[in-house]
Amino acid sequence: CPSCLRGLQSAWSGVYHLAWLSACLTTSIPDGVAILPAPQNLSVQSTNMKHLLTWSPVMVPGEIIYYFVEYQGEYESLYMSHVWIPSSWCSPTKGPECDITDDITATVPYNLRVRATQGSETSAWSTLKPPFNRNSTILTPPGMDVTKDGFHLVIKLEDLGSQFEFLVAYWRREPGAKEHVKVVRSRGIPVHLETMEPGAAYCVKVQTFVKAIGRHSPFSQAECVKVQGETLPLALALFGFVGFMLILVVVPLSIWKMGRLLRHSCCPVVVLPDTLKITNSPQKLISCRREEVEACATAMLSSEEPFRTWI
Ligand SMILES: *[C@@H]1O[C@H](CO)[C@@H](O)[C@H](O)[C@H]1NC(C)=O
Ligand SMILES: *[C@@H]1O[C@H](CO)[C@@H](O)[C@H](O)[C@H]1NC(C)=O
Repeated sequence: CPSCLRGLQSAWSGVYHLAWLSACLTTSIPDGVAILPAPQNLSVQSTNMKHLLTWSPVMVPGEIIYYFVEYQGEYESLYMSHVWIPSSWCSPTKGPECDITDDITATVPYNLRVRATQGSETSAWSTLKPPFNRNSTILTPPGMDVTKDGFHLVIKLEDLGSQFEFLVAYWRREPGAKEHVKVVRSRGIPVHLETMEPGAAYCVKVQTFVKAIGRHSPFSQAECVKVQGETLPLALALFGFVGFMLILVVVPLSIWKMGRLLRHSCCPVVVLPDTLKITNSPQKLISCRREEVEACATAMLSSEEPFRTWI
């Protein structure tokens, strides 16, 4: 009967609708109950291979909101049935940002997602669109410190992490000068570039290179230093002064000391004790020695006199 058929039809559509509704519910709320609003405006700021994920904070008056961040590299999304991995530093985190530098380990697209929690309440996940690839990082010219150490041209470069190499270009400032390039891999320590010629100026500029993404930063502004050719370097002047002072002190002292030594060696024993005097010794010899001693002593005395008064 037609009415029977219509009843059956509506019953079927009712069942269909129920099934659709339940399917819809289970897919949109996989775990927990979505009561909190999901974080919005996800974006990644990436400069010099440091990556920061940010989002607009979820506001609930009088409540502290925590956020959970998860990521999925190409490998996880293609070969591990879409496994999501909790971010190393943001599971959970309090502020509306997350340093994901340690999570991004390959130059492939990464999916990133965030959700808010408060007690047992959670929000739905918000996913970054489009996925993040670290090859889009902004590379800035590195900081550098160009100095001269005597006649040595020395450069110290900003420490940007182990992935960075520096291409240092330097040249003598004169028409038609040849540019030299040095690749520097050491970080944060002074590097010797060149021994400079007196009176010449030298210029340096530098750019970074990141092998992992195959990209260079722009060059920094050139910085120049000049070596004075005429005036003595300070170290040399100081050295000269110290030397002069040494001569002033040591020479008179050594002359005085020499004088004393000479007196002791040339006039050994001046007076013998009476008990040691040999009575039958030749009087002539003793008197001769006396004379010698007298002459020697007066000579020493006269040479000592100027120093006494000087001191
Ligand atoms: C997202 O960003 C836009 C502009 O940048 C802003 O107007 C909007 O309020 C933000 N959304 C939230 C949820 O904060
Ligand atoms: C980054 O790599 C992707 C391929 O993975 C490429 O399509 C894109 O152009 C690259 N972007 C930059 C800035 O090099």
